[in-house]
Amino acid sequence: MLSDEFLLKLAGEYGTPLFVYDGDMVVERYKALFNYIPYPRLRIQYALKANYNPGLLGLLRNAGAGLDTVSPGEVELALRLGFPRERIIYTANNMTDAEFRAVRETGVVMNIGSLSRLAKVAREFPGSRICLRFNPDVCDGDSAGTMTGGDLTKFGILLDAVDEVCSLVRSGNLKVVGLHEHTGSGLQHTESVFRSMENLMRIATPENFPDLEFLDFGGGFKVPYKPDEKRVDYYAMGAEIVARFNAFCRGYGRELDMLFEPGKYMVAECGHLLVEVNTIKHNRTRTIAGCNSGFPQLIRPVMYGAYHHIRNLSNPSGAPQLYDVCGNICETGDRFAEQRMLPEIREYDILSIENAGAYCYSMGGVYNLRPMPPEVVVSNGRVIARRRGLSNAQLAGMILEEMES
Ligand SMILES: Cc1ncc(COP(=O)(O)O)c(C=O)c1O
Repeated sequence: MLSDEFLLKLAGEYGTPLFVYDGDMVVERYKALFNYIPYPRLRIQYALKANYNPGLLGLLRNAGAGLDTVSPGEVELALRLGFPRERIIYTANNMTDAEFRAVRETGVVMNIGSLSRLAKVAREFPGSRICLRFNPDVCDGDSAGTMTGGDLTKFGILLDAVDEVCSLVRSGNLKVVGLHEHTGSGLQHTESVFRSMENLMRIATPENFPDLEFLDFGGGFKVPYKPDEKRVDYYAMGAEIVARFNAFCRGYGRELDMLFEPGKYMVAECGHLLVEVNTIKHNRTRTIAGCNSGFPQLIRPVMYGAYHHIRNLSNPSGAPQLYDVCGNICETGDRFAEQRMLPEIREYDILSIENAGAYCYSMGGVYNLRPMPPEVVVSNGRVIARRRGLSNAQLAGMILEEMES
């Protein structure tokens, strides 16, 4: 945990807005999974989409993590950072032929999530080694927008289609080395993890898929976003996972690798977005604390209605008052928090928006042409990696440079 004094020091040194990541926490999270889930052939494929900061990725690479990637750009970054190709899985959805060919060239294993793509692979690349993504038929997640199983989602192949899958696999003499499912992000019930596992394991028979090397049960491990939210008992969950997987392996006839692809669990709590309040405004019924960042830099409250805890680092013992904490973007909905009780906020106070490590910077954009903030990664009490961020002039220059005429 980084102290408030240290966060304030970083805000002073690098300016705000600023993303700060606790790199040691990310590595601890990674290592803890091997205690929670004591299966000797466990592999953790960090979901790169959650946070692609190269400093954090370097720490995870050195710790031995693999990666779940979802675009050719992510594969490119992973390979350039030195992740071995055999530790990377490519799980794009609605991929184009060109994307498919480009990633196939890299030797990274492709996770196929539709019958139509499977048919194309069988036709064009017979003999390929592939993984198959199924829809686990379980709905869970921390909002409707993060549930990826069940009837309303675009992801994966229906479990009911397994016979059709097997005949396509035979037609292309494909080697199915892995099966995959991902139920959702921020799973609210550990029971959902077990149900999804069981649904996938039910079709993973040696008759259907004789060449399996691994089963990949996706990500979704939840962490608290509110101070009073209970932590999941990951030891109990892990013991149940191992018992069920061992039973499956006995039935399958040999031990397989067990993969998980956590994103949020690994990086959400390591991140802080430090912002400065520049305007306090009283609008009859509301007090607005206006700050120097906005929803393109941390979109989860606007996109999912997500709660992000906010702390006033500059005045932690101020008298509590109700605030709308708003950004600097030309949109009414540009709020980090609505009617939130916070210690009195004064102009120039520094706020820390918590759990800003997952799906914040990585989901960011430059709407209103405000460049994304700099990022720093901290380890052992010092900054070990820094991403400078673009100045306004550099951002304008990049836009003009991309134009052909
Ligand atoms: C295929 C896949 N795997 C893993 C994840 C990571 O999920 P989380 O960050 O909730 O662990 C996602 C995110 O939605 C995903 O789509």
